[in-house]
Amino acid sequence: MKKKKLAVWILLLFLIPVMHVFAQMDMGKMSMGKNVKAICVLYATQGNNVTGIITFTQTDKGVKVVADLQGLTKGKHGFHIHEFGDCSSVDGTSAGGHFNPEGKSHGAPLDMSRHMGDMGNLEADESGKAHLEYTDATIQLNGPNSILGRSVIIHKNEDDLKTQPTGNAGPRVACGVIGAAK
Ligand code: CU
Ligand code: ZN
Repeated sequence: MKKKKLAVWILLLFLIPVMHVFAQMDMGKMSMGKNVKAICVLYATQGNNVTGIITFTQTDKGVKVVADLQGLTKGKHGFHIHEFGDCSSVDGTSAGGHFNPEGKSHGAPLDMSRHMGDMGNLEADESGKAHLEYTDATIQLNGPNSILGRSVIIHKNEDDLKTQPTGNAGPRVACGVIGAAK
């Protein structure tokens, strides 16, 4: 009886570190290949001077969006994720419409039902700079609806958050492709 107990203890002492190593390997496998951060570097379309960087970082509450732009006119500017990661046309129209993998209507970033690409507006100050940070519960960095390989478009005008399907935000002043980041 005593020997049996001792054998169980020895077995446990041996198993615990082994299981720990296996658990760590599993966690490594799970995070491996998953996108945690994405970045979009924006360049001006023809006749504009807007440039900037937007990062997308996975958090527990959703994807944290941090945008920093310059060269804008003072006021609000609609900005969205568009369907195609194609900024080849001089006016940015090659990026297509708002990224909308689930066939929803155009809306505001906090709406339950909206295009996945609907990030609302940025607001530029007197110097033409805009900074925005918010956490988005709809945007996805992984899976079939991932925003990677899509684009971000900055518009000349304010997104009214209701006109279908564009928000009536006007011409495209900057375009950038969303890619995986370290
Ligand atoms: Cu747009
Ligand atoms: Zn939209």
